[in-house]
Amino acid sequence: MARARTRSRLRARRSRMPESHSRPQRPPIVELRDATVVYPGGHVGLERVSISIDRGEFVFLVGPTGCGKSTFIKLLLRDLEPSSGTVSVAGKDINDMPRSKVPALRRRIGTVFQDFKLLPNRTVYDNVAYALQVIGTPRSEIKRQVPEILRMVGLGAKIHNYPDELSGGEQQRVSVARAFVSHPPLLLADEPTGNLDPETSIGIMQLLYRINRTGTTVVVVTHDREMVDKMRRRVIQLYDGRVIRDQAAGMYATDEDTSEFGVRMRNELGVPQDDDHFDGGAAL
Ligand SMILES: Nc1ncnc2c1ncn2[C@@H]1O[C@H](COP(=O)(O)OP(=O)(O)OP(=O)(O)O)[C@@H](O)[C@H]1O
Ligand SMILES: [Mg+2]
Repeated sequence: MARARTRSRLRARRSRMPESHSRPQRPPIVELRDATVVYPGGHVGLERVSISIDRGEFVFLVGPTGCGKSTFIKLLLRDLEPSSGTVSVAGKDINDMPRSKVPALRRRIGTVFQDFKLLPNRTVYDNVAYALQVIGTPRSEIKRQVPEILRMVGLGAKIHNYPDELSGGEQQRVSVARAFVSHPPLLLADEPTGNLDPETSIGIMQLLYRINRTGTTVVVVTHDREMVDKMRRRVIQLYDGRVIRDQAAGMYATDEDTSEFGVRMRNELGVPQDDDHFDGGAAL
């Protein structure tokens, strides 16, 4: 009798659960369609970029300096608007939304930058708590969640310190904790290890990887060749504002032919490019 009741309860519960194949497809967390950014003065930051990133992905965005990586990040935060094309986050065209909704968009996107951007006069605790206060989290929840996230990033013992009492790697851990404490669906990191030594960088990248494992989509802009090659995640490569490669489980660079090597070396040495060798999309 009891067993029959359990069986019928299970059947009822199952019938309430949508089958995975009949679940309506959720839109990609990030979708750019033919997005072009022209800066005042006419410089093209991005040119007809179309990219789709699904929920839960871990993506590296790579390419030489000036190719448009930070421009891409700024587009997603609506720090910039495209001159043409569309930018959608979680299925919403963010350039269509009224300006008054932009703070709410930004609260749903965690950000980590090369220069940490911590509040210098606030403790580690306050820097992280701030991210919860702005979304109206009750104090009791903040008191519970902040120490927990700080323990997760390995800073449980530095909770009452100020940023200038921490190493660069520790400061970056605080900014990762602040970006993730509200469990946003999307986390954008623009050269998060740019100011850190290789050993410390590994720790930060491991944290971002753990965050991704919880379901948050993570987009990391980086120049760190070794890290990209080790992690083997999706790699989107920009060159001169255009996507020249989008590869699942990619390396920092594809095997270069001689002309590509020439382009990269001229770029790294600051010698002007005479010609755009990527025009035919050879590396695609
Ligand atoms: N506010 C601006 N006004 C005019 N041009 C700009 C502006 N911001 C960026 N640019 C130009 O747009 C291009 C893309 O810049 P972006 O900052 O996106 O490059 P990046 O790939 O992030 O480079 P880096 O690796 O050096 O950070 C560059 O040529 C840059 O000079
Ligand atoms: Mg940049």
